[in-house]
Amino acid sequence: MIRLQGIGKDFGNFSAVKELSLEIPEGQTCVMVGPSGCGKTTTMRIINRLIEPTRGTVYINGEDFKKEKVENLRRNIGYVIQEVGLFPHRTIAENIATTPRLTGWEEEKIKQRVDELLELVELDPGENRDKFPRQLSGGQRQRVGLARAMAADPPVMLMDEPFAAVDPITREHLQNMFLRLQRRMKKTIVFVTHDINEAIKMGDQIAILQEGELIQCDTPEELLARPRNKFVADFIGVDRAIKILDLFSAGEVVGTRAPVLKMENFQEQVEQLQQKGKNNIPVIVESGSGEKFWFNLEELKDRVSLEEIIRPLPITLEPTSSIKVALARMLEHNNEAVLVQGEGEEPGLLTLGWVRHYVHRICSTTPGEEEGI
Ligand SMILES: Nc1ncnc2c1ncn2[C@@H]1O[C@H](COP(=O)(O)OP(=O)(O)OP(=O)(O)O)[C@@H](O)[C@H]1O
Ligand SMILES: [Mg+2]
Repeated sequence: MIRLQGIGKDFGNFSAVKELSLEIPEGQTCVMVGPSGCGKTTTMRIINRLIEPTRGTVYINGEDFKKEKVENLRRNIGYVIQEVGLFPHRTIAENIATTPRLTGWEEEKIKQRVDELLELVELDPGENRDKFPRQLSGGQRQRVGLARAMAADPPVMLMDEPFAAVDPITREHLQNMFLRLQRRMKKTIVFVTHDINEAIKMGDQIAILQEGELIQCDTPEELLARPRNKFVADFIGVDRAIKILDLFSAGEVVGTRAPVLKMENFQEQVEQLQQKGKNNIPVIVESGSGEKFWFNLEELKDRVSLEEIIRPLPITLEPTSSIKVALARMLEHNNEAVLVQGEGEEPGLLTLGWVRHYVHRICSTTPGEEEGI
């Protein structure tokens, strides 16, 4: 666990970080975002004791970081610095081996660890270990920077724009790779980015900084639902309702399964459902020959025949798909619903109306709106 307690840094008369307090629980990722010059790198450098704070202190696992020897502290913190910063005259293997060597590991153990890390960041060890940084692409160098920071398996990682300066596809690949690793490693991470989408994807919590001050620190869901002020709302963008779509899975939004009615006596079953207070819910109707169609329960009320409103079942999505994917598939197929069904599960129907209702409920009554955002 990392706790920043009122830390600040002045350079002459200028306060790069004014007074910042923040707590990052063990195994979680806190993403710091904010405009250029708002103090993100300065905060990272304070945590790693590359610079001394003018005010405040940092607690790592409850211990004041000043009580620890700087070398020990740094060994427990992997630092991916902005612009990668590999040593140009050292090979990839030597770069990655930096901390293990300082720590005095045996050569054989170092060699094994280097190869293991190269595999972990998806670089072929045989092909890459003896190369120099200039012989790699930007994205490959960023992977080496990450491997170097992870080399001695530190419990804490500071990652300063680790995936910047690569194309969007490589960036997404690196993000996914790191998320997979983090699920296993459960490190405590401070991650800096300029990209709010990256922050939403990578962060358990997001800290928004402006001119050396913390403006809001919340989970991505909370931040998108309730931006504290206009600065945060502007930073997130006007499309926050669309960004929210990425955060919820179709499975969790569908909630209940769709009732399946038999076509022969559908009216009786419609009445039963309505007596139970169900009205505007999607239902599936199965014909005698096993064909399935979907309707809104309301449409079936007092109907004798279904023929003129018949709608075949829409495409099926995994419950883990995001509601953004669900919406995209509805638009693509000119349909108002998708079927959500995991293996061996009863089907659920996610409708356009329900997505609209769900997102609106999350976005509504925010303090931002009251302020006229
Ligand atoms: N050693 C220094 N001496 C004087 N001013 C500094 C020093 N280091 C940083 N600053 C100033 O402190 C402010 C914060 O810098 P910092 O590097 O923390 O910004 P940042 O949020 O990381 O920005 P970016 O997104 O561009 O990386 C900037 O205005 C910078 O010019
Ligand atoms: Mg910076």
